[in-house]
Amino acid sequence: MDKNFLWGGATASYQCEGAWDIDDKQPSMWDCYLHENNLENGDVASDYYHRYEEDIRMMAEGGQNTYRFSLSWPRIIKDKEGTVNLKGIDFYHRILDTCKKYGIEPFVTIYHWDLPQYWELEGGWLNKETCYAFEQFAKVCFEHFGDKVSYWTTFNEPKWFIVNGYFIGNYPPGLQDVQKTMYGAYHVMYASALAVRAFRVGNYQGEIGIVHSYTPVNGVDNTIETKIAMRYADNYCNNWILDTAALGEFPIDLIARLSEKYDVSFMKAEDLAVIKNYTVDFIGLNYYARTLVKPYTEGETQLVFNHSGKKGQSKVIIKDWFEQVKDPNSEYTAWDTEIYPKGLQDGLIEAWERYELPIFVTENGVGVREDVTVDCVQDDYRIEFMNDHINAIMNAMDKGVDIRGYYAWASFDLYSWKNGVEKRYGLVAVDFGNEQIRKPKASYYWFKEMIESNAKIIKRRKFEKE
Ligand code: NOJ
Repeated sequence: MDKNFLWGGATASYQCEGAWDIDDKQPSMWDCYLHENNLENGDVASDYYHRYEEDIRMMAEGGQNTYRFSLSWPRIIKDKEGTVNLKGIDFYHRILDTCKKYGIEPFVTIYHWDLPQYWELEGGWLNKETCYAFEQFAKVCFEHFGDKVSYWTTFNEPKWFIVNGYFIGNYPPGLQDVQKTMYGAYHVMYASALAVRAFRVGNYQGEIGIVHSYTPVNGVDNTIETKIAMRYADNYCNNWILDTAALGEFPIDLIARLSEKYDVSFMKAEDLAVIKNYTVDFIGLNYYARTLVKPYTEGETQLVFNHSGKKGQSKVIIKDWFEQVKDPNSEYTAWDTEIYPKGLQDGLIEAWERYELPIFVTENGVGVREDVTVDCVQDDYRIEFMNDHINAIMNAMDKGVDIRGYYAWASFDLYSWKNGVEKRYGLVAVDFGNEQIRKPKASYYWFKEMIESNAKIIKRRKFEKE
């Protein structure tokens, strides 16, 4: 294993910082949406705003050499005019300096879903102005933090926040509208290219990528109908982000199909030229599970999301395109996520063959309910999960895939959006009800040993076909 391989954990600003209205931070669309709908929120979350030093120190003590986190736009920019909040800038300087102090390489996400509410009120990602505002925000980040950061990513999981926000309707702004989903998707991919352009023009050190919620697509059989369904699913799940960011082109068959029913005239030649010219240096893939599909049979589009943690609730059927199915031989979590490490191995090989760009596995983990009042959570299921997924990564590396890092989701327990704090992912337990006390879980010690042995202790080749 390459000694420079990055091993660490990931978080996101809204999910861990808390301090939602402190030091002139403005409300984000999530603050407003959760407050207005009286839902569990991240007002305090893991209180990382005040405890980051302890958290980053624990990363280093856990043998980790990197940390992926995001910058909060409404903490850094005060208003639509772009006024910079120096208290927000100071906060992230403190984070970056603490990373340096402990020998942790920062891996920075510019946008992890917390759009300033002042932009949401202007239409958010439906308004092209938001793209230009994002470009300005990215420039502010590069200017202030550019000499301390070598790995940047523009967006975290465009597929997830756009589809959930504008198509399924379970995330803010809570819409169910295909045409608006298309506007949002287009604007985000355009904004990403604008930020890459700003990065290149400014000639900053380091590299810039994008992070995608990667669900490699498998079919139930080898029929031609299934292959067609797989292509629809791949376009819906993966290609509109990865093809666009890495190859500079939206999938042409996807646009052709959408244009049969929807307006695509908003796609302008001058925007497409920016997208074509400013592709990313690397891709970040968040992997939780694959998408297994069969051909569409009947009925309306159905997108049901499991936020309850009661098995058997989720459903994805896209009319005329494909249906997602469950593998009866697989294990699923209480939130209906399949546990399928081999999908990571296959997906990494597929992404490498298609894009030929370095890859970071920017998130991987399992969300469960846990009793954190004990001294040390014995999360053997998480150890097994990480072991099997790291194993899958190593198999892909053995096949020549250029993988440069692995980030466990999450560095410590945090607020999991609509799943609240009940669904825990951390390597370190946070006792939210008891002064936010931090205690490493068994997986934290396992990860440390694995890193220190330079990944020699994990079982290899478990998922190879041959
Ligand atoms: C994806 C997202 O990036 C993160 O915000 C989320 O909490 C985790 N995966 C777990 O679902």
